[in-house]
Amino acid sequence: MESNVFYRSPARKYPVAAKAQGIYIYDTEGRSYLDGASGCVVANIGYGVPSVAEAIREQALNTSYVHGSTFTSFPQEELARCLAQSAPEGLDYVYFVSGGTEANETAFAMAHQYHLQRGNRNKWKIIGRTLSYHGSSLGTLAAASNVGRRRLCSPLLLPFPLVPAPHCYRCQYGLTYPGCGLLCARALEQTILAEGPENVAAFIVEPIIGTSAAASVPPPDYFPLVREICDRYDVLLIADEVLCGYGRTGKFLALDHWQVVPDLVTLGKGLGGGYAPLAAVIAHSSVFEVFKNNWGSFIHGYTYQGNPVSCAAGLAVFRYLCGERLFEQVVEKGRYLAAGLEAMAQQLRIIGDVRGKGLLLGLELVRDRETKESFDKSQQVAEKVKNICMEAGLLLYTGVGGSADVVARDYLIIAPPFVITREETDRLLAMLEASLRKAQDTFNCT
Ligand SMILES: Cc1ncc(COP(=O)(O)O)c(C=O)c1O
Repeated sequence: MESNVFYRSPARKYPVAAKAQGIYIYDTEGRSYLDGASGCVVANIGYGVPSVAEAIREQALNTSYVHGSTFTSFPQEELARCLAQSAPEGLDYVYFVSGGTEANETAFAMAHQYHLQRGNRNKWKIIGRTLSYHGSSLGTLAAASNVGRRRLCSPLLLPFPLVPAPHCYRCQYGLTYPGCGLLCARALEQTILAEGPENVAAFIVEPIIGTSAAASVPPPDYFPLVREICDRYDVLLIADEVLCGYGRTGKFLALDHWQVVPDLVTLGKGLGGGYAPLAAVIAHSSVFEVFKNNWGSFIHGYTYQGNPVSCAAGLAVFRYLCGERLFEQVVEKGRYLAAGLEAMAQQLRIIGDVRGKGLLLGLELVRDRETKESFDKSQQVAEKVKNICMEAGLLLYTGVGGSADVVARDYLIIAPPFVITREETDRLLAMLEASLRKAQDTFNCT
């Protein structure tokens, strides 16, 4: 029968997911898939957790909805308290929305209105970086580098500047750290000066790059320098931790690896854990106080902001993460998985780079490991490897391939749920190795 769903790829046939439990998804044809990417880095606690289902049911029966301009709710209050207690000192005020795009749009509006209230009428530009993705709205696309998605709506995008991302495997300056003198961070200062500091509201970054560079980690002194530059020019630092935050890399925030505190941080994906649409902006008290002491309101809002059922789901996910001590397990489990990937890279020349932190790991696939030459874009190697893996019963994520230089790279993101066991990790590695071996024989690797 013809489907009435407008799919992401209308020409494709999708398997129907019949059930999901633990780290496995089962389709109606009886096939099972080990979810090596938590959907798209979402299902951090795995599937089918009864306490989360129960919390959603209870909240739906108790108070399914209130409008954010009229009421607050217990789960919203409690989840905000939990997040503020887990985040670095100063990040104390939480604005809940339904998805990562909304969270980043909200952060942009917050930054703009923060400056307006302090008498800076022109501070509205957002500086983004190459190798970035912040969402699918026009505002978030304008502040990111995703070439494929930007190209389609370029006449509609605001002229936000982009600076080079710190991506040492393929440094945009062709330099090597630390001799490079961190030109990528210094480019931020040059760009602020070129735009005029009086025109720049914020700088948005993914502290560990997600889908546009498969878990690329910056050099150690990059973020301390960025923080300094932002402070010098009264530019807010927005950490987009929709993908890399919330314990995924072994710390509550990815920026915690460098003890840098942003002015605004956005969370999403794992916050609802896939049980409900939920994302958030956590604002530093220095930003919140400006709203409280001036206009007394933030001119912004969504019908589903702070939705009680979504917050109840998020609260139950948070309690499960704490109760099962899952935040603490990410470092060790990530180390084991990364060691397996490193060992695989010794055997398979198609793997050019293994990178990441915690349970956010990435592979870059190359035609020639010595020269780092990529495969031709038309070969769609990552997509094909993903399909080979899926055939074998392993789900991985290839990302959105955002790049500044329009060169398509082949990435695989490996980011299983935090509940993965050692045995399941071994199984993931075995399936991945067999699939990559097949791909290496198919594509012309040198
Ligand atoms: C870093 C980052 N920011 C924002 C988003 C957008 O989130 P959403 O798809 O929930 O709107 C994503 C989604 O992949 C992301 O990876």
